[in-house]
Order: sequence, then C-alpha cells, then structure tokens
Amino acid sequence: MSDFSNELLAAIPMPLILIGPDQRIAAMNPGAGEVFPGMGPGGHYLTVLRQPALSALVEQCLNSGEGGTARYVDRAMMREASYRVGAAAVMRDGARSVLLSFEDVSDVEWAGEMRRDFVANVSHELKTPLTALLGFIETLRGPARDDAQARERFLAIMEREAGRMNRLVADLLVLSRVESAERQRPTGRVNIEELVKTVLLSLQVLARSEEVSLTMSRRDDGSGPLTVQGDHDQLQQVLTNLIENGIKYGRKGGNLRVDLERFDRLPALRGPGVRISVEDDGDGFDPIHIPRLTERFYRIDNHRSRTMGGTGLGLAIAKHIVNRHRGRLRIKTEPGRGSTFTVLLPAPS
Ligand SMILES: Nc1ncnc2c1ncn2[C@@H]1O[C@H](COP(=O)(O)OP(=O)(O)OP(=O)(O)O)[C@@H](O)[C@H]1O
Ligand SMILES: [Mg+2]
Repeated sequence: MSDFSNELLAAIPMPLILIGPDQRIAAMNPGAGEVFPGMGPGGHYLTVLRQPALSALVEQCLNSGEGGTARYVDRAMMREASYRVGAAAVMRDGARSVLLSFEDVSDVEWAGEMRRDFVANVSHELKTPLTALLGFIETLRGPARDDAQARERFLAIMEREAGRMNRLVADLLVLSRVESAERQRPTGRVNIEELVKTVLLSLQVLARSEEVSLTMSRRDDGSGPLTVQGDHDQLQQVLTNLIENGIKYGRKGGNLRVDLERFDRLPALRGPGVRISVEDDGDGFDPIHIPRLTERFYRIDNHRSRTMGGTGLGLAIAKHIVNRHRGRLRIKTEPGRGSTFTVLLPAPS
C-alpha cells in the first residue's frame, strides 16, 4: 500500500479493512483496529471475521468482483454491536482485493426494537379496557336489556374503563411532548416550596379517602426561597406523580412526608441544588424492581395498579421531566418500611 492510500484509510473514521487476493489482510484503519483489537495486516481474514454471511460475501467479491452487504454481529464487546458491512472490489496491480466497510447500526436496531416493544405495550394496554367495554355493550344489548340495576352497574364500570383509556392517551401525549423537548433546557423560575403546597392541596381529596396524612417540611434553615430553573407545569406533574404514588401505594392511614432542602453543592449535580424527597411508610417493595421502575408500563403489582386506575406511565414521565431539568431521580425502598422517591434539581446560585 502506498503511504497515500494508508493515510486515506486512516482519515476515514468508519472501520475499513482491505483484504488482498491471498485472503489476507492487506491494510486496516484505526477504526477497524478498535473493533478488532487482535487483528493486524498479514493475518487471514477468516481468523477474525468468521461469520458465514460475511465470509460468503468476501469470497463472492474476491472471485467475481461483485460487491454487496452483509450483517455482522460483534459479541466481543460488553454489549452486542451490529454492523452493516459493505464489500467492494478494488483492483490493485492487476489483482482483485476487497474493501470492507463497517457501519455501526446498533443504535438503529435498538431504536427499532424499542418502538416495536412500545407499540406492543400500548396495544395491550388499550386492548384490556376495550375488550371490557365491548363485552358490557353486548350484555346491555342482550341479557341485561331490561335490568335497570345491572345497567347502572355496568355503565359505572364502562365509565371507569373509558376513563382509563382517556388517561392513557393523555399520558402518552404528555410523554411524547416531554421527550421531544428533552434537549431544550427549561427557562422559567419555579418556587419549589409553593409548588409542593399547591400539589398537596390538589391531592387532599385522594389523601383523605386513603386516610393518609400529608406533611411538608424544610430540612434546611428555611431562609430564602427554594427556587429552581424549570418548567412550572412539568415540575408540578413530577411532584403530583410521586406524591400520588406515595398516597396510593403507601399505607392506608399512614403518613406521607415531603422534605425539602437546599444545598450549596450537591455532588451528583456538581453545583447548588434543591432536594425534594417524598417518603411514605407503606409496604415498600423488593429493591430488585428499582432499575426498571421508570420504564413505561412497568408495574410491580399489576393488579393493584390497574384497580387504582394507573397507566404505569407516571414514573416514566417523571424521569423524562427530571432529565430535561438536568436533575436526578433516586429511588430507595425497604420492604415493610416504606419508599422514598428523591428528586434533585439544579438551582441557580
Ligand atoms: N411509593 C410507592 N410505593 C410502592 N410502590 C410504588 C410506589 N410508587 C410507585 N410504585 C410502583 O411503581 C409502579 C409504577 O408507578 P407509576 O407511577 O409509573 O405507574 P402507576 O402509578 O401504576 O400508574 P400512573 O402513575 O400512570 O397512574 C406502580 O405500579 C407501583 O407498583
Ligand atoms: Mg403513578
């Protein structure tokens, strides 16, 4: 290879491997060196690129000059990486070589998988209430046609199921809106203490029906407003979701505490911030669930969440909003003693 060809290969970030007529590696660029650390010029290409689809492509290209693409999966790394490999014939000194280029398609494949999962989940979530609705409509038309009492009861259930679908669609819209704005930092100023008071007031009725007493306290010296840079409505949504969960999944007749504290420096945020923790004294749950709790539709107790009318999107929404605010959402729980959901938000100094 001439110096120029080598330099040309090295200047291209995409991993490239040139295989000579003798099936040995004639050249490779640093990008390829990162993907195949053990490989170097002179070695037979089959010692590293052993996957049948890829070797068939190389052979075809060396023999007939016809290029093409193949998928190559690299399992050597911590996570699986997929590549779309392009093969093209290159004539050099009258003999045919093959240039392989590796396009990393892992993210695209991962996004596709996420989307398929998501569509499947949404369909499933909508299917359950819809099936119930259709069933009741049929019953009301047929067997229960003249039964006024049954009619009332069924209508109440239908109303609840329709309400669930309504909430699900509304939550999905919120989620997609939050996601699309996730890269834009919010610009408003929000007084967290005032906001918590508003949210607690709005959840009074629910708290009373669960006999949960709500308290808010400041853990710092209480001087000065607890102000953060943020989006008022979105932060209200986060606090509502966390406090509502604390009431719903906490102890009937229990206590729910919201503690607020300002720090001149929060290590996790590398700067000043406000900590809001929502602590219930319910049953808590097995900490094994913590990493997945903020996934869409993830519920610990499916039945309980559904009977409470939950969509399983509350924490996913909260997580996205907190991310948008460059904050952190932390979850702690102790079975039998309760759970604490903590939000850290950067505050202007
Ligand atoms: N304070 C808590 N104590 C115990 N479990 C909780 C608590 N908060 C949340 N969970 C569990 O986490 C799951 C997910 O919560 P999330 O708020 O995302 O959904 P949801 O409450 O079921 O529905 P939604 O909030 O959309 O109405 C809940 O179903 C519940 O199992
Ligand atoms: Mg919830």
